[in-house]
Amino acid sequence: VIYLDQAASSFPKPEPVVRAVTDCLSQVAANPGRSAHRLSLQAARLIFEARESLARLFGVSESRRIVFASGATEALNLALLGLLRPGNHVVVSSMEHNAVMRPLRYLQESRQVQVTEVQADLSGNIDPSTIRAALRKSTKLVVVQQASNVVGALRPLAAIKEAIGEVWLLVDAAQSAGAVPIQFDQDGIDLLAFCGHKAMLGPQGTGGLILRDGIAPDPLVRGGTGSRSESDEQPDFWPDRYESGTPNTPGIAGLGAAAEFILEQSIETIAQKLKGHARQISEGLRTIPRVRVVGLSLSDLALPTVSFVVEGMAPSEVGRLLDQRHQVLVRAGLHCAPAAHRTLGTFPQGTVRFSAGFFNSSSEIEEALAALRDVITRPS
Ligand SMILES: Cc1ncc(COP(=O)(O)O)c(C=O)c1O
Repeated sequence: VIYLDQAASSFPKPEPVVRAVTDCLSQVAANPGRSAHRLSLQAARLIFEARESLARLFGVSESRRIVFASGATEALNLALLGLLRPGNHVVVSSMEHNAVMRPLRYLQESRQVQVTEVQADLSGNIDPSTIRAALRKSTKLVVVQQASNVVGALRPLAAIKEAIGEVWLLVDAAQSAGAVPIQFDQDGIDLLAFCGHKAMLGPQGTGGLILRDGIAPDPLVRGGTGSRSESDEQPDFWPDRYESGTPNTPGIAGLGAAAEFILEQSIETIAQKLKGHARQISEGLRTIPRVRVVGLSLSDLALPTVSFVVEGMAPSEVGRLLDQRHQVLVRAGLHCAPAAHRTLGTFPQGTVRFSAGFFNSSSEIEEALAALRDVITRPS
């Protein structure tokens, strides 16, 4: 198959990631930090090392400020549900994923949290000054994704943080982590949710939240941590405050190996490669009759996530034919981001999305473009 659904989950995974997961399952697999025997200590070591590798990759000075979660969704829920109180105001962009919009809708209804949606332009870009103009005295958070899962432009995080001053910036880096350089401390980001299984190239069921020192949301989950076991109160130190219950040790071991893999390749080299794929997809699509690429001028393109519509064909039909006839696997529809499609004018039918990744080659992209041409000219 030609797998161009990397924005949903990356495939294949680097060999060291697969090895780290299987080694953990076959050789360690004890409960980390719970017992004093050698396998438990070894499992705890795997988790510690994964946290350290992620801290190096994301420019975080203290690894304890990285909290593991089952993915970006759980990390965003921890930030939003843990921080927002009745009367707080939040500013979001009109491009956000349901992983942000659904918890916020819940908080609007259950805690009277107020939400202002700032309109992005037709490329999905948001001017930092429009975010600043939406701030109120009661604004607690600004939430923006670094990269959209519908169109591959990047938000200027440092400029947004500068525009909002003391208000906390929560970044949804589900799509961008592992794809572009992130310097958490340097860019003044306050909270950042990342996903382990997309451009990070790690296993599904992994991800996390990075918190600036001094920001302490209420935990989502409370329970055993292997620390302060004499007390029935949740520990107040990090990361234990947020990591109750037996962790996903094999997944975290794989995520640590993925972070090391990215550090070895260098994130700058990866970003360059992905930008090349983005350009190839976007330019190739523009040569195919009846295809309209959504959003994004070529100069905005950073990530190889490109959405398009085909005149006279439903996105789901294009996706089905690409799979059935050519084994080209893409995603069609709303991509869990109806707000983004409203912004881009493609709601409710959505788009077809080609999303490439580190392991795709340019010849695969050429083949996928040829397959699309065939599907459009010979629809049945
Ligand atoms: C922009 C964005 N935010 C959040 C998520 C949720 O990520 P996860 O699968 O890690 O929960 C996704 C996944 O599709 C996404 O694209």
